[in-house]
Amino acid sequence: MKPLLEVNNLCIDYLTADTSVRAVNNVSFTIGEGEVFGLAGESGCGKSTVAYGVTRLHQPPAIISSGSIKFAGEEVLDMNKDRLQKYRWGDVSMVFQSAMNALNPVLRVEKQFRDTLMAHKVVRNKKEAQARTAELLDLVGISPSRMFDYPHQFSGGMRQRIVIAIALALKPKLIVMDEPTTALDVVVQREILQQIHELQKKLGFSILFITHDLSLMVEFSNRIGIMYAGELVEVAPSTEILSVPKHPYTEGLGRAFPAIHGEKTPLIGIPGTPLDLSNVPNGCRFAARCEYANDKCKANVPELIEVQSHLARCHYPLEAKA
Ligand SMILES: Nc1ncnc2c1ncn2[C@@H]1O[C@H](COP(=O)(O)OP(=O)(O)OP(=O)(O)O)[C@@H](O)[C@H]1O
Ligand SMILES: [Mg+2]
Repeated sequence: MKPLLEVNNLCIDYLTADTSVRAVNNVSFTIGEGEVFGLAGESGCGKSTVAYGVTRLHQPPAIISSGSIKFAGEEVLDMNKDRLQKYRWGDVSMVFQSAMNALNPVLRVEKQFRDTLMAHKVVRNKKEAQARTAELLDLVGISPSRMFDYPHQFSGGMRQRIVIAIALALKPKLIVMDEPTTALDVVVQREILQQIHELQKKLGFSILFITHDLSLMVEFSNRIGIMYAGELVEVAPSTEILSVPKHPYTEGLGRAFPAIHGEKTPLIGIPGTPLDLSNVPNGCRFAARCEYANDKCKANVPELIEVQSHLARCHYPLEAKA
């Protein structure tokens, strides 16, 4: 698969007056053309920080300290202001956490589409803007006749579809979706994701998909990256990540997660608490919570290594324990 986005050794720090917290440490992954790449991990592990970094929408106190982000071979970190403006929305668009509140409540939906389309010069006038808006609303299953309504006249699910339609407006090659449906009930959530999936197959864009919900992630992603305390600890095909995990943290996530099919098994949480990023240990970040950890794990930082079809950041990837 031809790579579209290549993130290499990305480090992002939050610099406050007296401390510096590395929220993203040496994260590397690739998203292929037309691929859905999922990013999962517990709250605070750095998923949104990665999403903001990739789109260069991070704000102070966050800074990208090192690494590389290449989009179709071009270094995103070297883009100037003009190029960056085209990159955002034109090449990559975003649907962020609580996106349905991202619409301006005092503007009709039509005007919000028109502003985006005109700002990026993809339409010449109001008439063309409305024609494209009708097309886009239709794509996400909303009647074009409703384009003159205000956001509050739509349900939460419909507002979310509108935000997705705006994200599609400039035919981006990559859409970054950070918890795109978290605020919605499970039925609407699934409907919207199915629709995104169909659009993705039809239009061929790639997705960086972030969610807490592992079952949704397995269903809708091709490959999944698992993050722990700012680091990517495992990357694997979605069909394998929970069934044959290579990293003990992924194994723990799988055990803590109810299976939809098969026998009922008791759910087991991962003992301990997430790492305090302002006090990072010398060795493996997961060692304190890992049932397999030994002195080597506590002393030496593991690299992300290839383990069969997976990548795992572990001195003792699980298959070696049998
Ligand atoms: N503005 C900020 N200033 C300082 N630290 C921050 C700031 N924003 C985030 N962080 C820290 O960066 C880490 C990663 O946060 P991030 O929001 O990326 O996590 P996340 O994986 O998206 O979590 P969630 O699943 O809850 O959305 C957290 O430990 C958080 O405390
Ligand atoms: Mg987040």
